[in-house]
Amino acid sequence: MKTIHLSIDGKEIECVEGETLLWVALDHAIYIPHLCLMKEMEPFGACRLCFVELEGEDLPVTACTTKVKEGMVVSTRGAKALRLARTALELTLSNHPVDCAHCLKSGSCELQKIAKHLRVKLNTKKFKKFLRDRPIDETSSVLIYEPSKCVLCGKCVRYCQEKLEMNPIGFAYRGFQRWVTTFDDEPVGLSECGGRIELAEICPVGAFVAKNKGNKKNIVNPVRKGGASNPTLP
Ligand code: SF4
Ligand code: FES
Repeated sequence: MKTIHLSIDGKEIECVEGETLLWVALDHAIYIPHLCLMKEMEPFGACRLCFVELEGEDLPVTACTTKVKEGMVVSTRGAKALRLARTALELTLSNHPVDCAHCLKSGSCELQKIAKHLRVKLNTKKFKKFLRDRPIDETSSVLIYEPSKCVLCGKCVRYCQEKLEMNPIGFAYRGFQRWVTTFDDEPVGLSECGGRIELAEICPVGAFVAKNKGNKKNIVNPVRKGGASNPTLP
């Protein structure tokens, strides 16, 4: 293992050659937005939120797929990188109900955090809204699944495949209709992942949430009911 030195946003950092730039930045308290990566998993490159700029490179790169090298000079705040990340976020938000007032994940939702960081309004109208009108699934004894809130990060799918070596959930359909569902579209409660409470932790938004006593009364179908709230933006 070779120790190297690089700079991120002017901060001098010592780390091990070949580590992933995203984790190096996060480990040194430099936030780079990300939705689709988990530690010890190969990068998936789905969310396109983690763009950064490298000195000497014309085009921004995704921090989750970039390995650190000696002498690298990285900027997480370059205009080109921020433009790409903001567009990716606006596209994601156009597919999400942004129903924070009724969402059990509100306050710990990664979308709220990223929107605040990138200074994008959660109720942005940049792209036409397209929501998946799928029913809420409360058949699991420990989880509630709200497909309309899924941001297609793939973390739950990959966790089951790579860590649990099972395939109880996966992506179905293409384009705007794409969503995460169980094998054969069976209720979550009947699937192999139905008892996996950790999916509520893994899910960065309110698609999988833990079913606690009293949760039920807060749940509304966000697609049919509407009503987004916006946390204070800087
Ligand atoms: S359900 Fe949650 S973890 Fe799974 S793909 Fe959707 S947003 Fe990601
Ligand atoms: S974390 Fe890099 S593309 Fe999602």
